[in-house]
Amino acid sequence: MTRILGIESSCDETAAAVVADGREILSSVVASQIDIHRKYGGVVPELASREHLRQIVPVVREALGQAGMKLADVDAIGVTQGPGLVGALLVGITYGKTLAAALGKPLVPVNHLAGHVHAVFLEAYKTGRTAKLPAVCLIVSGGHTVLYEVTAGGSADPECCGLLRYGKIGQTRDDAAGEAYDKVAKLLGLGYPGGPILDRLAAVANGAAAPVKFGPTKTRGNPLDFSFSGLKTAVLYHVREHAEYSGEIRTREEALQRGERKFEQLLPLCSPQTLALVREFQNAVVRDLVDRTMLASQELAVESVLVSGGVAANSQLRATFEERGKSQGIEVFFPSRALSTDNAAMIAAAAYERFRAGILADSSLNADPSLALA
Ligand code: KG4
Ligand code: ZN
Repeated sequence: MTRILGIESSCDETAAAVVADGREILSSVVASQIDIHRKYGGVVPELASREHLRQIVPVVREALGQAGMKLADVDAIGVTQGPGLVGALLVGITYGKTLAAALGKPLVPVNHLAGHVHAVFLEAYKTGRTAKLPAVCLIVSGGHTVLYEVTAGGSADPECCGLLRYGKIGQTRDDAAGEAYDKVAKLLGLGYPGGPILDRLAAVANGAAAPVKFGPTKTRGNPLDFSFSGLKTAVLYHVREHAEYSGEIRTREEALQRGERKFEQLLPLCSPQTLALVREFQNAVVRDLVDRTMLASQELAVESVLVSGGVAANSQLRATFEERGKSQGIEVFFPSRALSTDNAAMIAAAAYERFRAGILADSSLNADPSLALA
């Protein structure tokens, strides 16, 4: 059995995990910094680095403890090399390099996006399903909205999928979908991060009349590219042009300042019109993500569709993908909500195939904030 310690620090989660043979999660610990960044309405890079420094040692210790292991029992260390915030990445990389050198263990550099792809395989293994390749994978988070074709790298060993191959087939031209959620929530006085609260508010909007309709987003050129900044701006203009929103937005901002940011606390402060606006925004985001991904799956005639990243936690996105998958006769795979958002189990899983292929790093490993997967 190969046990890999994964370390993730690319954005605002300090995470460590131990995964056996690339598929069995022995432990997974995530220290979120949301409470620190909330008052700024987004991730502040300097604060993120400082918090990673404070958290990295206890988080790794806890991951080993939960797996019932000592550092010496680890077979290799997998660490996120990029993409992400350079100062944040450097904390995990420096700690990983130091551990590897001190213990004499191999160090495996991992692309964060490959981690998100592997989160889907981890979940499939847990639930006894097989995500057949080739697949189309949508990674949709606060920092990324990108479509890949994922193919098997041609390993003869059926127990190990071998090195996966990635081909980028579409990406956002401006904002990531999660970023659009966060910005719309901010302008509506609904706090940070925006995804989870908008998800729940949209679900209770029911039949309230739509105050505005958002048409399909047109992107000239590649039909598999995304664009969300126009939609965000359309919400902003709609709110600015309708004075009736301003009172309730102020009331919610005051509630947030008192620390009342829970769904149950904010829902009574939302008019039916606001709920319907949130529903229309979410309908537009979900329709766009699902339409383009399913189009890609048809064009490439793949075996399955994989969806990962923070926004993959969205209830409507999951339900809509399930429905469309059924009607098009293609299986859709999601990680659990915990594996959808940033974690280190996915990094350890992605490190396993690279470890087996002998892709290792030495002490010269550096952070690469814009590391590409394909
Ligand atoms: O993957 P992640 O944890 O970090 C990044 O790599 O960005 O994703 C965080 C993003 C945030 O923008 C957050 O608003 C969004 O994922 N998010 C959601 C939901 N849960 C988190 N968006 C829509 N619906 C959700 N339920
Ligand atoms: Zn991520």
